[in-house]
Amino acid sequence: MLNGGNIYFGLIAESFNAFHCAYSSGSEVNFYKRFLGYKEGPALEIGCGTGRILLPLLKAGINIEGIDSSQEMLDICMKDAKELALKPNLYHAYMQDFNLEKLYSAIIVPYCTFPLLPLRETAFSALKAFYNHLEPGGEILIDIFRLFNMKQYANKGSRLTTVETKLEDEKIVRVTTSGWYDHLESLLYSDIKYELLQEGELLNIRETQLQARVYTRREIYNLLRSAGFTNIRVYGNYEYMPLKKEHRKMIVHASVQK
Ligand SMILES: C[S@@+](CC[C@H](N)C(=O)[O-])C[C@H]1O[C@@H](n2cnc3c(N)ncnc32)[C@H](O)[C@@H]1O
Repeated sequence: MLNGGNIYFGLIAESFNAFHCAYSSGSEVNFYKRFLGYKEGPALEIGCGTGRILLPLLKAGINIEGIDSSQEMLDICMKDAKELALKPNLYHAYMQDFNLEKLYSAIIVPYCTFPLLPLRETAFSALKAFYNHLEPGGEILIDIFRLFNMKQYANKGSRLTTVETKLEDEKIVRVTTSGWYDHLESLLYSDIKYELLQEGELLNIRETQLQARVYTRREIYNLLRSAGFTNIRVYGNYEYMPLKKEHRKMIVHASVQK
């Protein structure tokens, strides 16, 4: 059974901000701010996690809510929101089958969260759910990673990387990842080991696997079209540039005409 992105609990949730918040400072948050800034109605972030994107947007006065399948990530988001005197509306739900019984003017799916649905059928259900939650004229932005140097992912155990970060209590979290790309199914498998260390002593260890779908421009375009979206455009990175082969991200922009 493919579990996709169902890994965000325990050590992975606890260390998420320490690893990833550095990326939220610049272009990414500004990109979503520009997209949502002129919209009136509420917006929705899919897979909002700890609020790395959602909290700076709320702080900038943007009316945005979030859903996430991990209660632990949402709890961290709520705790940080309280410290910033913010009160976000957060929903514990799965993107492939949620129903919030309201409409949004825009939906954003940042940080490669959409590819965490490994199966095409589930990805299609998610797009239908996004479509059903957008008002007429509503727009969506989806951030999708691109895979480079396929040779590096040729075999299980390929492309071994190790990164470390320090938590607030000075403990160290070390993450060792290896990736393997299944060409037949267009799936990237990552074997991930999280280790919690204090003064060199191993306190906790967690090993898990993440599966992510790798999309071509044509495939994501067709999937959005069959879910009912129109005006579909695929850009490179966070600059609304025409997609080029060196871009690490595909940013997909589409709208709803009901
Ligand atoms: C890479 S993190 C991104 C978090 C946040 N958007 C950010 O940019 O920091 C992916 C998030 O998506 C959530 N997620 C994974 N699969 C999901 C699903 N099927 N439905 C809803 N959320 C999901 C995870 O719990 C996690 O919080």
